[in-house]
Amino acid sequence: MNTARLTLDPRRRVAPVPRRLFGSFVEHLGRCVYTGIYEPGHPTADADGFRADVLALVRELGVTTVRYPGGNFVSSYRWEDGVGPVDERPARLDLAWHSLETNAFGLDEFMRWVGKAGVDPIMAVNLGTRGTAEAVDLLEYANHRGGSHLADQRRDNGAVDPYGIKLWCLGNEMDGPWQVGQRSATEYGRLAAQTAKAMRRFDPDLELVACGSSHLGMPTFGSWERDVLTEAYDDVDLISLHAYYQPVDDDLASFLASAEDMDRYIDAVTAIADSVGAIRRSTKKIMIAFDEWNVWYQSAAPSTPPSGEDWPVAPPLLEDHYSVADAVVVGGLLISLLRHSDRVSAACQAQLVNVIAPIMTEVGGSAWRQTIFHPFARTARHAQGTVLDVLREGSTTTTGRYGEIDAVDAVSTWDDTTGEMTVFLVNRALETPAEVTIDVAGAQVSDIIECVTVGGTDLHAKNTADGPDHAAPRSNGTARGADASVQLTLPPASWTMLRLRAT
Ligand code: AHR
Repeated sequence: MNTARLTLDPRRRVAPVPRRLFGSFVEHLGRCVYTGIYEPGHPTADADGFRADVLALVRELGVTTVRYPGGNFVSSYRWEDGVGPVDERPARLDLAWHSLETNAFGLDEFMRWVGKAGVDPIMAVNLGTRGTAEAVDLLEYANHRGGSHLADQRRDNGAVDPYGIKLWCLGNEMDGPWQVGQRSATEYGRLAAQTAKAMRRFDPDLELVACGSSHLGMPTFGSWERDVLTEAYDDVDLISLHAYYQPVDDDLASFLASAEDMDRYIDAVTAIADSVGAIRRSTKKIMIAFDEWNVWYQSAAPSTPPSGEDWPVAPPLLEDHYSVADAVVVGGLLISLLRHSDRVSAACQAQLVNVIAPIMTEVGGSAWRQTIFHPFARTARHAQGTVLDVLREGSTTTTGRYGEIDAVDAVSTWDDTTGEMTVFLVNRALETPAEVTIDVAGAQVSDIIECVTVGGTDLHAKNTADGPDHAAPRSNGTARGADASVQLTLPPASWTMLRLRAT
């Protein structure tokens, strides 16, 4: 048995929980849009063609924001193709995913869907094959009240009120060699700054995200962030990070500890951004939009787009089938995001439906929850109020990639209006349970409201459309204690949420 002691102190606050941490991502990729969120003719489809079964799961997941329309897709997308009468919209070749884009679903459909899902939109502009002018056109179409050509076009298309989209991504992964319109850091930084300046002439209060390097492992990492921000520091508010995790060489111990990598990534980009700010003697802080993160089995087929003459409509791409271990990793990554809530002000799990997603659909059939659905849904619902610093002490576990790390990782939130304190924990040791003592300094625990665990069972088990829900949180009856101390046992390789009432 490993042991761990966690100390929480309601006076040691990191930041208010940024509700935008619980964002997701809808890209025109595979079956995320078509037969994912949108499937006219499906038995549950509403008058707009939106699947009501998927909408219900999106609400249950607790997603707060959704980024759209890509991803790599956006780098050759013409947004105008997706508005106006559907039967007049052109079908286009999507160069990113080698698919045929029918454009039956576009901005106006997305905004109607967003309204029904009860989420806020995050919009990306194409800085791959297009530039500043088209970005400003899209902004005018979306956000201007009326009286100009593009705003009136939106009104004619049925959306009288402007959409008021506040958060905009200036392109996507612009350093990636796979990207249509790949650029050097300085080139992109100048384009981002110019586009940001133009967009702010329309609305100075927009929040604008510059692209970071595509991944921590990119050769561009570090110098890219520095050079982009050197050009665009004064013009943007956030810089984006993307990270996908999968087990490498069957090293499950390192995989379970993927949050170590996320921690380092966030800390590194924060330091780079602050160093650019310090050189400029700026008082402004650039925040982080971790606008793509998840487990993604990139080596598994059929992750790669089709090629050659075949340009299918909505082919099944990147349809990863997640295990209990993947759910534990997702729970751990959410702990890392919360821990950094003083600098990460938005995050998007990539993606929402079918494409490396918590929600899966069958064409014409059911919608169901993957294992990774559960830690996300519980964290989104119960991480409320303020994030508290957690002091960790105790047993370590050994990983190939990160060396000796704390076996137990944790973060806590505290809602001083309800007195509810929630602790999210992962036991990253593969074989050994952990006995955890939580000291709540300066508060009295009056009640254990709920303690649930995912994992500690068959780590390789996966859900199916009709099969059991292997990662549905089950009650953890080990939590006990009173006054300022609570004890509980975490099974090996597991994620746990403990809800306390504290005064
Ligand atoms: O989410 C899948 C893809 O991963 C996105 O299109 C791209 O931005 C990233 O490389």
